[in-house]
Order: sequence, then C-alpha cells, then structure tokens
Amino acid sequence: MALPVTLTPDSPIVILTGAGISKESGLDTFRDADGIWSKVSIEEVATPEAFARDPGKVQGFYNVRRQSLLNPTVQPNAAHAALAHLETAWPGDVLLVTQNIDDLHERAGSTNMIHMHGEMLKALCNHCDAVSPWRGDLSDATPCPDCGATGGMRPDVVWFGEMPYEMERIFAALARCALFISIGTSGNVYPAAGFVQEARQVAGAHTVELNLEPSSGVTAFAEARHGPATEVVPAYVKELLALAG
Ligand code: APR
Repeated sequence: MALPVTLTPDSPIVILTGAGISKESGLDTFRDADGIWSKVSIEEVATPEAFARDPGKVQGFYNVRRQSLLNPTVQPNAAHAALAHLETAWPGDVLLVTQNIDDLHERAGSTNMIHMHGEMLKALCNHCDAVSPWRGDLSDATPCPDCGATGGMRPDVVWFGEMPYEMERIFAALARCALFISIGTSGNVYPAAGFVQEARQVAGAHTVELNLEPSSGVTAFAEARHGPATEVVPAYVKELLALAG
C-alpha cells in the first residue's frame, strides 16, 4: 500500500515498540510460546505485591535479565538502527515510545524517546526516589547512592498496577501525529495497546502495524505488514524517507 498522501516530510511521527523489536538481538519476548511469561508468572515477579512479598525473588528475576542484556552478544539490530536513522533523516518530529526496558534503541542512536515501562539499567530508591544508572545486581543490602539507605533499591521498571512514565507527553504527541507506527508488540497491555485508537480518533493519523504476525489489535490499524522486524522495519523506513525526498 502506498504511503497516504496526507503525509508530508514535516509530519510528526510517533513510534511504539515492544519486545518483538529486540527478539532478533537475542532478548526474549513475553507472550511468544517460549516467552518470559511462559516460564515465570507476572504475579510472582512483576507487581508491587510480589516485591513486598518476596523482594529477593523479584530482584533475582531482574538481576538475571540485566546480565543477559549486558552480554556482548546482545546488540541493537537493523530495526533499531532504521528507527534511529529515521529520527535523524525525517524532517518532522519523530518520537519513539518504547515498552522495552532494554537500552538497544539508545545504543542504536535513538535520542528522542520515552521508556514508558522504565529501564532495566536504572535503579530506583523507595526511600528517597533517586534514580541511578545500574549495571550490577540489586538486593535488599544494596545501599542507595544518594541517601545511603538499604532495603529500598528496586529496578526502575514499571510493574503491573503501576502508572507508566510520561503518559501526558505521550498522549500529547499522539494527539498531533500524522503517522503512528507500532512495532513488535502483541497489543495485549494497556495503555500502550490503546495508542493506535488515540492516534486515529484524535489526530486522524495514518496507523501502521509492523509485527511478526497479526497482533491482538491489528484490526485497529489502517495498514499492517508482517515479518521479522529486521526486514519489515528497514523497508518501511526506506519508503518513508523516499517520500521525504
Ligand atoms: N519481529 C517482529 N515482531 C516480533 C518478532 C520479530 N522478530 N518476534 C516476535 N514478535 C512479535 C510477536 O508476534 C508479538 O506480537 O512481538 C510481539 C511481542 O509481544 P509480547 O511478548 O506481548 O511483548 P510486548 O507487546 O512488548 O509486551 C508489552 O507487557 O509484560 C509486559 O511490560 C511488559 O512491556 C511489556 C508489555
């Protein structure tokens, strides 16, 4: 399908990414057959109640995932690179909203971005709310670099039941975008799963899903292209930039 004529090179673009964009870099998704939630339950490791009940189990879950992310074999892939290139080459504003807590978008060069579910390489102190870069393990004995207190350090990750970050800024961008692109997400978790409706109904944006297979929300999109992110994302970015001339 050709790009909509309403799109001009100064059109604002909002991109939403999920775990699928990092799959070909070697990081697990959540709801695929071999996904993270097929091995451990959300209620055990990804809620504030789980952390209050068994902080060691929750810290252990994120300590393992943090070290996996820091494995040198895990590198940004061609889809991450294509989005970083789009941000640089597209004359209009490009805002990248990711549900992912990895740092592969940044390492690929994206800068205008929001981690709405937080970041695995940051730690948050429950005592003083300080956020610190964090590449090691976390435990109950970890002192906060700011206030020095122990027993309060947690991954700076948004758990189920908590409010995602920067929702006002995200909805403001959705309300004025001309193009909304959703990449590598199953469309199962709100508020992210509702962004496509917001972009369509409030901004009248053209909406595109780029995913390995149709997501739960595929019918809400004006256009959908299915295949591995490292193939469909660079191809779509190339088409967009041809429009920009
Ligand atoms: N290329 C493109 N898409 C892919 C690829 C790939 N190589 N591999 C998998 N996918 C797709 C899957 O088809 C699926 O639709 O990526 C999507 C991943 O969906 P989920 O595992 O549900 O991950 P995500 O949508 O990011 O989950 C949203 O749920 O568990 C919470 O906070 C967590 O941020 C996460 C949120």
